[in-house]
Amino acid sequence: MTKIALISGVTGQDGSYLAELLLGKGYEVHAVIRRSSSFNTERIEHLYVDPHEPGVKFFLHYGDLADASNLRRLVERVKPDEVYNLGAQSHVKVSFEEPEYTVDVDALGTLRFLEAIRDYRERTGHEVRFYQASSSEMFGAAPPPQNETTPFHPRSPYACAKLYSHWQTINYRESYGMFACSGILFNHESERRGETFVTRKITRAATRIQMGLQDKLYLGNLSAKRDWGFAGDYVEAMWRMLQADQPDDFVIATGEAYSVQEFVDRTFAMLELDPRRHVEIDPRYYRPAEVDALLGDASKARTKLGWSPTVTFDGLIRRMVEHDLMLARREKLLLGAGHGAGSTQGQDT
Ligand code: NAP
Ligand code: GDD
Repeated sequence: MTKIALISGVTGQDGSYLAELLLGKGYEVHAVIRRSSSFNTERIEHLYVDPHEPGVKFFLHYGDLADASNLRRLVERVKPDEVYNLGAQSHVKVSFEEPEYTVDVDALGTLRFLEAIRDYRERTGHEVRFYQASSSEMFGAAPPPQNETTPFHPRSPYACAKLYSHWQTINYRESYGMFACSGILFNHESERRGETFVTRKITRAATRIQMGLQDKLYLGNLSAKRDWGFAGDYVEAMWRMLQADQPDDFVIATGEAYSVQEFVDRTFAMLELDPRRHVEIDPRYYRPAEVDALLGDASKARTKLGWSPTVTFDGLIRRMVEHDLMLARREKLLLGAGHGAGSTQGQDT
């Protein structure tokens, strides 16, 4: 029997890797996309097939985590075996600017999905496995290393919203016996990472600097430490959680932490650039409250799911730099041919 998956957040970094993974495993994949005035499907264009073609396995549906009736309708129509809730306003700094919206989508959005699944399951008897995209940001001020037993101390509206969803996921498992898992994922990056997250902001800027397309990179707190892994590895962990015999919660991390400064230094060194000539601090990128140090202990996932990361810190930076160098070269060629190309520094956070 072909398994059916429903993904929210498919147009994001993780959603695109997860859709690829599931399609590769023979799943029929349905995914929620938001209506947008400009295209937001760049990361999944390579997966899209005209639904009029025979044998299509990837279907896009308009929807929004703020719209409960829409989520209910989708669950009823798609009849999923597995739901992956990756949709979110996922930028921590933006959550300080838009706390109410962030809570609506990142906290209540999860509740809406869980309620839709609960009712569908009760009415039809169809078991639906649920994955919640929880975050290491929930640990906040709790000292490293962090694992599943570390007490949470959230430090942003985003983290508070994610913590609500984490506990609701557990609550639905305990109250209704739902197969609901919370994946507490530490930072994970790739060449598909949004350009306002610090790693991609750095690799985009450094490669553009090397091509003479910009001169300065403005950053905030360089001393924050993060446990950075590769997104492709992390979606494998999500899938493994839903294949397990029992629903559970797992920390997913590499077990190594580096500062933002170290990420800068290694990126610039790879390009033989001196960061001291190009990197400046702009306090506008500071946050009202900072998460100083995240370092995950993923022993439980290693033991129970057989999961471990495959990409090293340097390997991650290298693949991002290579990709962004290709983009910068293309941008320079287009500029040379008289076509303007947007700057990445315009509206970053
Ligand atoms: P991302 O690239 O920012 O993608 C977020 C996705 O959510 C996009 O597809 C976005 O759609 C969608 N979305 C936003 N608001 C929505 C709404 N109201 N209704 C439906 N969909 C909505 O994030 P990511 O890095 O792939 O992360 C995936 C999930 O894991 C998120 O929940 C994030 O909070 C969580 N997480 C990420 C990390 C990490 O390091 N990447 C770590 C821990 C947890 P548009 O494309 O239309 O904006
Ligand atoms: N974005 C950004 N921009 N961050 C900067 C900058 C800058 O110019 N300068 C320094 N930083 C610091 C931030 O203050 C933070 O300490 C660190 O770089 C990482 O910031 P982000 O890349 O924005 O990621 P994040 O850790 O806040 O959040 C990401 O990881 C979480 C998991 O821990 C997001 O992907 C969240 O959705 C995710 O849950």
